[in-house]
Amino acid sequence: MIPRIYIPADSGALALGAEKVAKAIEKELKERGVEAKIVRNGSRGAYFLEPMVEVATANGRVAYGPVKASDVKSLFDSGFLTGGHHKRWLGSPDKIPFFAKQTRLTFARCGINDPLSLDAYKSLGGLRGLQNAVAMTPADVVKQVTESGLRGRGGAGFPTGIKWKTVLDTAGEQKYIVCNADEGDSATFADRMIMEGDPFVLIEGMAIAGVATGATKGFVYIRSEYPHAVATMNKAVAIARKAGVLGVNVLGSPNAFDMEIRVGAGAYVCGEETSLLNSLEGKRGVVRAKPPLPAIQGLFGKPTVINNVISLASVPIIMDKGAAYYKDFGMGRSRGTIPIQIAGNVRNGGLFETAFGLTLGEIVDDIGGGTASGRPVKAVQVGGPLGAYFPRALFDTPFDYEEFAKRDGLIGHAGITVFDDTADMLKQARFAMEFCAIESCGKCTPCRIGSTRGVEVLDKVAAGIEAEKNLALVTDLCNTMKFGSLCALGGFTPYPVMSSITHFPEDFKPAPARVAAE
Ligand SMILES: Cc1cc2nc3c(=O)[nH]c(=O)nc-3n(C[C@H](O)[C@H](O)[C@H](O)COP(=O)(O)O)c2cc1C
Ligand code: SF4
Repeated sequence: MIPRIYIPADSGALALGAEKVAKAIEKELKERGVEAKIVRNGSRGAYFLEPMVEVATANGRVAYGPVKASDVKSLFDSGFLTGGHHKRWLGSPDKIPFFAKQTRLTFARCGINDPLSLDAYKSLGGLRGLQNAVAMTPADVVKQVTESGLRGRGGAGFPTGIKWKTVLDTAGEQKYIVCNADEGDSATFADRMIMEGDPFVLIEGMAIAGVATGATKGFVYIRSEYPHAVATMNKAVAIARKAGVLGVNVLGSPNAFDMEIRVGAGAYVCGEETSLLNSLEGKRGVVRAKPPLPAIQGLFGKPTVINNVISLASVPIIMDKGAAYYKDFGMGRSRGTIPIQIAGNVRNGGLFETAFGLTLGEIVDDIGGGTASGRPVKAVQVGGPLGAYFPRALFDTPFDYEEFAKRDGLIGHAGITVFDDTADMLKQARFAMEFCAIESCGKCTPCRIGSTRGVEVLDKVAAGIEAEKNLALVTDLCNTMKFGSLCALGGFTPYPVMSSITHFPEDFKPAPARVAAE
């Protein structure tokens, strides 16, 4: 049997040198006259081990990582094609603790095979969910998704089934499925990873959404910073179309569904659903007032399901194994699994899919391994640039929508950014206001003007000018933004600002006191 070598072509792995490693392996094979098949897979998500090269041996797969091009010669000398020992040897991927501790439902296939092999997708259970869906009534498909407890993974955590039911129940000669792949939150890469590593699961999820609601056309709106994801998705859509997964008769059924990939121009606010719809229509990415909800009047004024990549990619397993199977994972009203993306100043950065319920401390300390700098963890921002900063005192918070809300935080798209004790939380609070000022679409006053005033007032606090009075002003401003903004960009910017002030008051002391304290 010809040996198989798996080298990720995921953009995270490429950024860490996977292409150089692939070239070095090709060269070495040629020079040694050894025949082997190189498969370019996606990433399994342990970025601290990327580029992670795997070989298929008689005893299963053996992983090596992080591999540098300079390691390649010695890898061959150590007999890595048969799993030989080497300083980069990691053993069976399934036994690497970072993977062994995960519950992979949505990412079950991601990173294992060539992402564009539909046969490989099917061999690992792909298309079973869609097959089941086309044999059911739309109402029953919606019921399954509702009963699974799946909530939107884009940020707001809205029940996916309820959104689908609204579109199903709304009359319209044309309905749409729009997939939100703008993924603008800091520390997040789950959408990108699955689009590059298992694109058919998203296509399958979107086709199921179409079957369930009567929508015949779908769009994936991908941020321009993701060229690899755009290329992979375009190729996967063409393959799915040719294979009859998409088209006028989805899997031979009477249901029609086709889709297109669209590329955004790069604005954080274009991840907000109504702004995204404007952008898709070729207009400026400005937030639309709701109502009407996109489910009633969405893309081009038609009933539209708009869901995040992970929400849609979680549907195939629900339709394959049933609502009860999925719902069995998780806690409280947070059902199923969540791909947590661990980033920032952290030792083991990567994507960790697990049932809801792990505490923040378990995620940061046990899974993430603490900071990369080796210094104590000071703060963790959860939920992207609009998420709150959590101090160690709140590390017992379980990863659950309601538990985070109780502590004035949010899960968002499940990205967490770790900071060590050198972080200055006043600077972080200022950054939140500045980010909002730069990214604001400008439609409403609290966000457009408030964020700029917020930067100015925090600058005064930093300069020690009437710090107490100005901090009270920031609090007042945050309340105005929270309750008076049209969308969550202005409405949630107070979370990182107020959590910094509440949990790290020592960083907001007047300048002379701060200097004296340092
Ligand atoms: C400023 C802003 C940016 C957002 N960015 C994204 C994004 O990049 N991706 C995403 O899926 N949702 C984003 N959202 C949430 C979307 O508005 C919307 O809730 C989501 O697409 C719905 O899909 P879901 O129910 O599957 O989560 C953003 C919201 C706001 C207010
Ligand atoms: S809160 Fe900001 S981004 Fe949202 S509508 Fe208002 S101005 Fe636009």
